[in-house]
Amino acid sequence: MPFDSGRPEMNAEEFRLLRDFVYAYCGILVRDDMKYVMQRRLWPRLEALGLHDFASYYRYLRFDAQRRAELDTAIEALTTHETYFFREPRQLKAFSQEVLPVLERRNARLRRLRLWSAGCSSGEEAYTLAMLLKESGRFEGWDVEVHGSDISRRVLAAARQGEYGPSALRATSAEQLARYFTQIGPNRVRVREDIRAWVTFGHHNLQDTEHGTSSPRVDAVFCRNVLIYFDTPARQRVLKSIYDRLVPGGYLMLGHSENLINLSADFELVHLRGDLVYRRPELGGWNP
Ligand SMILES: C[S@@+](CC[C@H](N)C(=O)[O-])C[C@H]1O[C@@H](n2cnc3c(N)ncnc32)[C@H](O)[C@@H]1O
Repeated sequence: MPFDSGRPEMNAEEFRLLRDFVYAYCGILVRDDMKYVMQRRLWPRLEALGLHDFASYYRYLRFDAQRRAELDTAIEALTTHETYFFREPRQLKAFSQEVLPVLERRNARLRRLRLWSAGCSSGEEAYTLAMLLKESGRFEGWDVEVHGSDISRRVLAAARQGEYGPSALRATSAEQLARYFTQIGPNRVRVREDIRAWVTFGHHNLQDTEHGTSSPRVDAVFCRNVLIYFDTPARQRVLKSIYDRLVPGGYLMLGHSENLINLSADFELVHLRGDLVYRRPELGGWNP
């Protein structure tokens, strides 16, 4: 249907094709009751490309020379990037007070620490972790890297820029603001250089399971508020690659509404005083 007679409806078959294509690429499950949300969010793409129905858009995503870039844009339109600094403070406190001392002892000989913020959005989580490391005073002079990864190149560009406004800072205290940020304009701050020096960002699709075994091992992974967008098989794929990336004894932190019940028995639950976290056991392997 041409645009001058209104925007095209997404029919059931087009929805199924697009939903399955998105799912196969990134594990994000667009539920049946989200058809209208998908339609609304993709309309601007049809308009931008001059396409008159969703079947043409599907073919574009599958076969056009520009399909990779367009897939990024489509995923962008369908994902949620909500995040902010010092999110879930109880968990962060438990991590700082009870996990970091363990990692310091364990890695004292190598003086190297690797953390991974998986699904880091615009970087607030990765920078927050670097701030906690700095705050602890335990890792000065160490080889430290907090790596943030995401499927969205747009949020990664923002993360690398490291500049934020009030919404990102809604849980940041005045003291933290003064310590870790430089004011660069009215309502605009920049993460300080010594924090940025510990943080890197890279593009990574968590459904890409090859990545797990070939990338360097990490001591702890924060994968918070990401699994909620996936169905069970997609969550299990992500957990397997996180497992492979973690050193034996390495920690996994999920979001507060997430847990591994009915998903994986391969991580052990660790009862910290302040929170529950998961850990890759020291011995044993992944059970398929
Ligand atoms: C709600 S944000 C969570 C940000 C941060 N972890 C937090 O808890 O504040 C979810 C992020 O997961 C990313 N994401 C979704 N599917 C992904 C995938 N297959 N691979 C990598 N990142 C993905 C989205 O782009 C989004 O930035």
